[in-house]
Amino acid sequence: MKKLDQKVAIVTGAAQGIGLAIAEELALAGAHVAIFDLKLESAQSAAAEITKLGVTSRGYAVDVSNSKAVDAAFAQVVSDFGHLDILINNAGISMVGPHIKDLTNEVWDLSLGVMQSGVFYCMRAATKYLLPQRSGSVVTISSIRGFSSNPGRVAYCATKAAVIMMTEVAAAEWAPYGVRANAIAPGVQRTPMWDVDAASGVVNEERVLKATPAGRLGDPKEVGKLAVFLCSADAEFINGDCITIDGGLTKVPIDGIVTRPE
Ligand SMILES: NC(=O)c1ccc[n+]([C@@H]2O[C@H](COP(=O)([O-])OP(=O)(O)OC[C@H]3O[C@@H](n4cnc5c(N)ncnc54)[C@H](O)[C@@H]3O)[C@@H](O)[C@H]2O)c1
Repeated sequence: MKKLDQKVAIVTGAAQGIGLAIAEELALAGAHVAIFDLKLESAQSAAAEITKLGVTSRGYAVDVSNSKAVDAAFAQVVSDFGHLDILINNAGISMVGPHIKDLTNEVWDLSLGVMQSGVFYCMRAATKYLLPQRSGSVVTISSIRGFSSNPGRVAYCATKAAVIMMTEVAAAEWAPYGVRANAIAPGVQRTPMWDVDAASGVVNEERVLKATPAGRLGDPKEVGKLAVFLCSADAEFINGDCITIDGGLTKVPIDGIVTRPE
Protein backbone atom coordinates (compact mmCIF):
# COMPACT_ATOMS: atom_id res chain seq x y z
CA MET A 1 0.00 0.00 0.00
CA LYS A 2 1.25 3.50 -0.82
CA LYS A 3 2.04 5.93 2.04
CA LEU A 4 -1.05 8.12 1.46
CA ASP A 5 -3.30 5.57 -0.20
CA GLN A 6 -6.89 6.92 -0.70
CA LYS A 7 -6.21 10.04 1.38
CA VAL A 8 -7.85 13.25 0.12
CA ALA A 9 -5.68 16.37 0.02
CA ILE A 10 -6.27 20.05 -0.73
CA VAL A 11 -3.23 21.96 -2.01
CA THR A 12 -3.60 25.74 -2.32
CA GLY A 13 -1.79 27.65 -5.07
CA ALA A 14 -1.16 24.35 -6.84
CA ALA A 15 -1.46 25.38 -10.50
CA GLN A 16 2.33 25.78 -10.74
CA GLY A 17 5.63 25.80 -8.85
CA ILE A 18 5.99 24.23 -5.41
CA GLY A 19 2.23 23.66 -5.04
CA LEU A 20 2.05 21.68 -8.27
CA ALA A 21 5.13 19.64 -7.30
CA ILE A 22 3.56 18.87 -3.90
CA ALA A 23 0.32 17.83 -5.62
CA GLU A 24 2.32 15.47 -7.87
CA GLU A 25 4.21 13.90 -4.97
CA LEU A 26 0.99 13.47 -2.96
CA ALA A 27 -0.58 11.75 -5.97
CA LEU A 28 2.46 9.49 -6.44
CA ALA A 29 2.00 8.52 -2.78
CA GLY A 30 -1.62 7.54 -3.54
CA ALA A 31 -3.59 10.63 -2.47
CA HIS A 32 -6.46 12.18 -4.40
CA VAL A 33 -5.83 15.89 -4.83
CA ALA A 34 -8.00 19.02 -4.96
CA ILE A 35 -6.11 21.84 -6.63
CA PHE A 36 -6.97 25.38 -5.43
CA ASP A 37 -5.75 28.36 -7.45
CA LEU A 38 -6.95 31.78 -8.58
CA LYS A 39 -7.95 30.82 -12.12
CA LEU A 40 -10.24 27.86 -12.77
CA GLU A 41 -8.57 27.05 -16.09
CA SER A 42 -5.06 26.75 -14.58
CA ALA A 43 -6.35 24.75 -11.60
CA GLN A 44 -8.18 22.37 -13.93
CA SER A 45 -5.23 21.92 -16.25
CA ALA A 46 -2.98 21.07 -13.26
CA ALA A 47 -5.65 18.62 -12.07
CA ALA A 48 -5.69 16.99 -15.52
CA GLU A 49 -1.92 16.36 -15.19
CA ILE A 50 -2.34 14.93 -11.68
CA THR A 51 -5.11 12.59 -12.87
CA LYS A 52 -2.59 10.97 -15.25
CA LEU A 53 -0.79 9.70 -12.12
CA GLY A 54 -3.71 7.34 -11.44
CA VAL A 55 -5.64 9.28 -8.76
CA THR A 56 -8.68 11.56 -8.82
CA SER A 57 -7.93 15.25 -9.07
CA ARG A 58 -10.11 18.34 -9.58
CA GLY A 59 -9.35 22.03 -9.96
CA TYR A 60 -11.19 24.78 -8.07
CA ALA A 61 -11.03 28.57 -8.46
CA VAL A 62 -10.36 29.77 -4.92
CA ASP A 63 -8.78 32.99 -3.67
CA VAL A 64 -7.52 31.92 -0.24
CA SER A 65 -7.72 35.51 1.02
CA ASN A 66 -11.53 35.33 0.74
CA SER A 67 -12.85 33.44 3.78
CA LYS A 68 -16.32 32.80 2.33
CA ALA A 69 -14.81 31.38 -0.86
CA VAL A 70 -12.51 29.17 1.23
CA ASP A 71 -15.37 27.77 3.34
CA ALA A 72 -17.46 27.07 0.24
CA ALA A 73 -14.57 25.39 -1.58
CA PHE A 74 -13.76 23.08 1.36
CA ALA A 75 -17.43 22.03 1.51
CA GLN A 76 -17.39 21.39 -2.24
CA VAL A 77 -14.25 19.24 -1.98
CA VAL A 78 -15.76 17.12 0.78
CA SER A 79 -18.92 16.75 -1.27
CA ASP A 80 -16.90 15.78 -4.39
CA PHE A 81 -14.33 13.48 -2.72
CA GLY A 82 -16.28 12.19 0.31
CA HIS A 83 -13.85 13.35 3.00
CA LEU A 84 -10.67 15.35 3.69
CA ASP A 85 -7.40 14.20 5.29
CA ILE A 86 -4.66 16.64 4.26
CA LEU A 87 -4.36 20.40 3.77
CA ILE A 88 -1.24 21.96 2.25
CA ASN A 89 -1.21 25.76 2.67
CA ASN A 90 1.07 26.77 -0.18
CA ALA A 91 -0.47 29.78 -2.01
CA GLY A 92 1.88 32.74 -1.95
CA ILE A 93 2.97 35.94 -3.68
CA SER A 94 6.51 37.28 -3.77
CA MET A 95 6.35 41.09 -3.75
CA VAL A 96 10.08 41.83 -3.42
CA GLY A 97 10.58 45.59 -3.54
CA PRO A 98 10.40 48.71 -1.43
CA HIS A 99 11.85 49.02 2.03
CA ILE A 100 9.51 49.75 4.96
CA LYS A 101 9.71 53.52 4.45
CA ASP A 102 8.14 53.24 1.00
CA LEU A 103 5.94 50.17 1.36
CA THR A 104 2.31 50.78 0.43
CA ASN A 105 -0.73 49.63 2.41
CA GLU A 106 -1.78 47.73 -0.70
CA VAL A 107 1.30 45.49 -0.77
CA TRP A 108 1.15 44.98 3.00
CA ASP A 109 -2.58 44.10 2.97
CA LEU A 110 -2.34 41.87 -0.09
CA SER A 111 0.61 39.93 1.35
CA LEU A 112 -1.04 39.38 4.71
CA GLY A 113 -4.35 38.57 3.02
CA VAL A 114 -2.90 35.71 0.97
CA MET A 115 -0.10 34.33 3.15
CA GLN A 116 -1.38 34.91 6.69
CA SER A 117 -5.17 35.37 6.69
CA GLY A 118 -5.38 32.87 3.82
CA VAL A 119 -3.56 30.26 5.92
CA PHE A 120 -5.85 31.01 8.87
CA TYR A 121 -9.02 30.71 6.76
CA CYS A 122 -7.87 27.37 5.34
CA MET A 123 -6.77 26.03 8.74
CA ARG A 124 -10.13 26.99 10.23
CA ALA A 125 -12.08 25.49 7.33
CA ALA A 126 -10.07 22.24 7.63
CA THR A 127 -10.82 21.86 11.36
CA LYS A 128 -14.51 21.44 10.54
CA TYR A 129 -13.69 18.13 8.82
CA LEU A 130 -10.43 16.94 10.43
CA LEU A 131 -11.26 17.35 14.13
CA PRO A 132 -14.54 15.37 14.11
CA GLN A 133 -12.92 12.49 12.21
CA ARG A 134 -10.01 12.51 14.70
CA SER A 135 -7.29 12.39 12.04
CA GLY A 136 -5.55 14.57 9.51
CA SER A 137 -2.44 16.54 8.73
CA VAL A 138 -1.89 20.18 7.80
CA VAL A 139 1.39 21.37 6.30
CA THR A 140 2.01 25.08 5.74
CA ILE A 141 4.69 26.35 3.39
CA SER A 142 6.60 29.04 5.26
CA SER A 143 10.06 30.10 4.06
CA ILE A 144 13.56 30.66 5.38
CA ARG A 145 12.32 34.28 5.27
CA GLY A 146 10.24 33.43 8.33
CA PHE A 147 13.45 33.52 10.42
CA SER A 148 16.17 34.94 8.14
CA SER A 149 15.44 38.52 7.08
CA ASN A 150 15.18 39.82 3.53
CA PRO A 151 15.34 43.61 3.14
CA GLY A 152 12.63 44.84 0.77
CA ARG A 153 10.28 42.09 1.82
CA VAL A 154 8.93 43.00 5.26
CA ALA A 155 5.36 41.88 4.54
CA TYR A 156 6.48 38.54 3.07
CA CYS A 157 8.84 37.88 6.00
CA ALA A 158 6.14 38.86 8.53
CA THR A 159 3.66 36.36 7.11
CA LYS A 160 6.22 33.57 6.87
CA ALA A 161 7.19 34.08 10.53
CA ALA A 162 3.54 34.25 11.55
CA VAL A 163 2.61 30.93 9.99
CA ILE A 164 5.40 29.16 11.90
CA MET A 165 3.77 30.28 15.17
CA MET A 166 0.25 29.61 13.83
CA THR A 167 1.45 26.06 13.14
CA GLU A 168 2.66 25.67 16.74
CA VAL A 169 -0.68 26.89 18.11
CA ALA A 170 -2.59 24.62 15.74
CA ALA A 171 -0.49 21.62 16.75
CA ALA A 172 -1.18 22.23 20.43
CA GLU A 173 -4.91 22.73 19.84
CA TRP A 174 -5.36 19.77 17.48
CA ALA A 175 -3.10 17.10 19.01
CA PRO A 176 -5.88 15.86 21.35
CA TYR A 177 -7.93 15.16 18.20
CA GLY A 178 -5.16 13.22 16.44
CA VAL A 179 -4.62 16.02 13.92
CA ARG A 180 -1.08 17.28 13.27
CA ALA A 181 0.23 20.63 11.98
CA ASN A 182 3.73 21.22 10.64
CA ALA A 183 5.46 23.80 8.46
CA ILE A 184 8.17 23.66 5.81
CA ALA A 185 10.67 26.49 5.32
CA PRO A 186 12.11 26.18 1.81
CA GLY A 187 15.22 28.06 0.77
CA VAL A 188 15.48 29.21 -2.81
CA GLN A 189 13.57 26.91 -5.16
CA ARG A 190 13.51 26.97 -8.95
CA THR A 191 9.86 27.99 -9.57
CA PRO A 192 8.03 30.58 -11.69
CA MET A 193 8.03 32.89 -8.61
CA TRP A 194 11.85 32.78 -8.40
CA ASP A 195 12.34 33.00 -12.17
CA VAL A 196 10.15 36.14 -12.40
CA ASP A 197 12.09 37.82 -9.53
CA ALA A 198 15.47 36.78 -11.01
CA ALA A 199 14.51 38.07 -14.47
CA SER A 200 13.44 41.45 -13.05
CA GLY A 201 16.71 41.75 -11.10
CA VAL A 202 15.18 42.02 -7.60
CA VAL A 203 17.04 38.85 -6.59
CA ASN A 204 20.54 37.74 -7.56
CA GLU A 205 20.77 34.06 -8.47
CA GLU A 206 24.56 34.06 -8.76
CA ARG A 207 24.95 35.31 -5.17
CA VAL A 208 22.45 32.78 -3.88
CA LEU A 209 24.30 29.94 -5.60
CA LYS A 210 27.61 31.13 -4.11
CA ALA A 211 26.11 31.33 -0.62
CA THR A 212 24.33 27.96 -0.73
CA PRO A 213 26.55 25.11 0.51
CA ALA A 214 24.68 22.68 -1.75
CA GLY A 215 25.71 24.88 -4.73
CA ARG A 216 22.32 24.72 -6.43
CA LEU A 217 18.72 25.90 -6.12
CA GLY A 218 16.16 23.58 -4.59
CA ASP A 219 13.93 21.38 -6.73
CA PRO A 220 10.22 21.82 -5.80
CA LYS A 221 9.88 18.02 -5.91
CA GLU A 222 12.09 17.88 -2.82
CA VAL A 223 9.57 20.04 -0.95
CA GLY A 224 6.84 17.73 -2.26
CA LYS A 225 8.58 14.64 -0.91
CA LEU A 226 9.04 16.32 2.48
CA ALA A 227 5.33 17.22 2.54
CA VAL A 228 4.44 13.58 1.80
CA PHE A 229 6.67 12.41 4.65
CA LEU A 230 5.14 14.93 7.09
CA CYS A 231 1.61 13.82 6.16
CA SER A 232 2.43 10.11 6.42
CA ALA A 233 2.32 7.77 9.42
CA ASP A 234 6.16 7.83 9.37
CA ALA A 235 5.96 11.36 10.81
CA GLU A 236 3.31 10.55 13.42
CA PHE A 237 5.44 11.98 16.27
CA ILE A 238 6.44 15.20 14.43
CA ASN A 239 4.01 17.94 15.43
CA GLY A 240 4.19 21.73 15.51
CA ASP A 241 7.60 21.79 13.86
CA CYS A 242 9.00 23.78 10.97
CA ILE A 243 11.48 21.85 8.83
CA THR A 244 14.02 23.83 6.83
CA ILE A 245 14.94 22.60 3.34
CA ASP A 246 17.51 25.03 1.94
CA GLY A 247 20.72 23.19 0.98
CA GLY A 248 22.35 24.76 4.06
CA LEU A 249 21.78 28.38 2.94
CA THR A 250 20.80 29.60 6.42
CA LYS A 251 23.68 27.73 8.07
CA VAL A 252 26.63 29.37 6.30
CA PRO A 253 29.29 31.46 8.07
CA ILE A 254 28.74 35.17 8.56
CA ASP A 255 30.46 36.30 5.34
CA GLY A 256 27.84 34.28 3.50
CA ILE A 257 30.23 32.83 0.92
CA VAL A 258 31.15 29.16 0.87
CA THR A 259 34.78 28.25 0.13
CA ARG A 260 34.78 25.38 -2.33
CA PRO A 261 37.67 22.93 -2.92
CA GLU A 262 39.49 23.21 -6.27
N1 LIG B 1 10.23 29.76 -4.85
C1 LIG B 1 10.92 29.87 -3.73
O1 LIG B 1 12.15 30.01 -3.75
C2 LIG B 1 10.22 29.80 -2.39
C3 LIG B 1 11.03 29.74 -1.24
C4 LIG B 1 10.42 29.66 0.01
C5 LIG B 1 9.05 29.63 0.11
N2 LIG B 1 8.27 29.69 -1.02
C6 LIG B 1 6.82 29.65 -0.85
O2 LIG B 1 6.30 28.54 -1.55
C7 LIG B 1 4.97 28.84 -1.97
C8 LIG B 1 4.86 28.59 -3.48
O3 LIG B 1 5.80 29.43 -4.13
P1 LIG B 1 6.20 29.25 -5.66
O4 LIG B 1 7.61 29.66 -5.79
O5 LIG B 1 5.75 27.93 -6.16
O6 LIG B 1 5.30 30.43 -6.29
P2 LIG B 1 4.57 30.56 -7.71
O7 LIG B 1 4.33 32.02 -7.89
O8 LIG B 1 5.34 29.84 -8.74
O9 LIG B 1 3.19 29.82 -7.43
C9 LIG B 1 2.27 30.34 -6.48
C10 LIG B 1 0.87 29.88 -6.83
O10 LIG B 1 -0.03 30.44 -5.84
C11 LIG B 1 -1.17 30.96 -6.51
N3 LIG B 1 -1.81 32.01 -5.74
C12 LIG B 1 -1.36 33.28 -5.51
N4 LIG B 1 -2.25 33.95 -4.79
C13 LIG B 1 -3.28 33.11 -4.51
C14 LIG B 1 -4.50 33.23 -3.80
N5 LIG B 1 -4.86 34.40 -3.23
N6 LIG B 1 -5.32 32.15 -3.73
C15 LIG B 1 -4.98 30.98 -4.32
N7 LIG B 1 -3.84 30.81 -5.02
C16 LIG B 1 -3.01 31.86 -5.11
C17 LIG B 1 -0.59 31.50 -7.84
O11 LIG B 1 -1.62 31.68 -8.81
C18 LIG B 1 0.41 30.40 -8.21
O12 LIG B 1 -0.18 29.35 -8.94
C19 LIG B 1 4.69 30.28 -1.57
O13 LIG B 1 3.99 30.31 -0.34
C20 LIG B 1 6.09 30.85 -1.41
O14 LIG B 1 6.11 31.94 -0.53
C21 LIG B 1 8.84 29.77 -2.27
